[in-house]
Amino acid sequence: MSPARDQSPQGRRRPLVSGNWKMNFTHLEAIQVIQKLSYALDRGPLATVEVSVHPAFTALRSVQTVLDADEIPVALGAQDVHWEDKGPWTGEVSPPMLAKLGVRYVIVGHSERRQRLGETDEQVSMKLRATLRAGMTPICCVGETAEQRDAGETDQVVLGQLGSALEGVAPAEVATMVVAYEPIWAIGTGRTATPGDAGQVCATLRREVGERWGAEAAAGIRILYGGSVDERNAASLLAGDDVDGALVGGASLDPVAFAAIAAAAAAATA
Ligand code: 13P
Repeated sequence: MSPARDQSPQGRRRPLVSGNWKMNFTHLEAIQVIQKLSYALDRGPLATVEVSVHPAFTALRSVQTVLDADEIPVALGAQDVHWEDKGPWTGEVSPPMLAKLGVRYVIVGHSERRQRLGETDEQVSMKLRATLRAGMTPICCVGETAEQRDAGETDQVVLGQLGSALEGVAPAEVATMVVAYEPIWAIGTGRTATPGDAGQVCATLRREVGERWGAEAAAGIRILYGGSVDERNAASLLAGDDVDGALVGGASLDPVAFAAIAAAAAAATA
């Protein structure tokens, strides 16, 4: 993927608003949701903001068909991937399978998978590199628990996750990637980080990318905030210079709310 595709006409990073549908919607429901989203999205701001949706595996094909047929300017995303291309991995889905479906973005290392399904840093790193190998863009999630935050360990935790996930990835590829800072205590709770805190952690992540992968990687990589983003708080959360968009869970299930978040992201970066 060319980094240039993700630059706005002004040469700034193009904000990305991604809807993580998690384990919601049958394929029939997903078709209705994507049609409603198409109707709700204001096409004007989409010149400056990119939008992706991440249905469950069972709905990817249906959503892709509607996106293509109706020429809806929304990128297709997946919520997870395996690191091998094929083989004896019952129940898993490989990078080439997703790439062939037109998937552009793949969420890797979501905290729900790390915490509730035992996904390790090493597996996240393998998934990330496999996603890049297949020509797709990883959205790599990092974030601290409430206890880690209270202990003042936020930077240490997110930088540790970042370093482990991006170990061995070439700077030119890092420049095309997406990282999502999702504090675990803010996911699905209605509590968000303050815009100041979100901006500060995103800036810390970008600084680390600059120190370890160079200035071009730091300038190109997009860093999203996630955790209880909705249509009311999106504008302030996305106002920071280092916040390049949002990874949205609950509010992305409502096409009108999700479209409003995309419009807020466009306004925040105008
Ligand atoms: P909520 O927006 O529901 O808090 O979920 C955030 C998230 O986990 C997105 O990946």
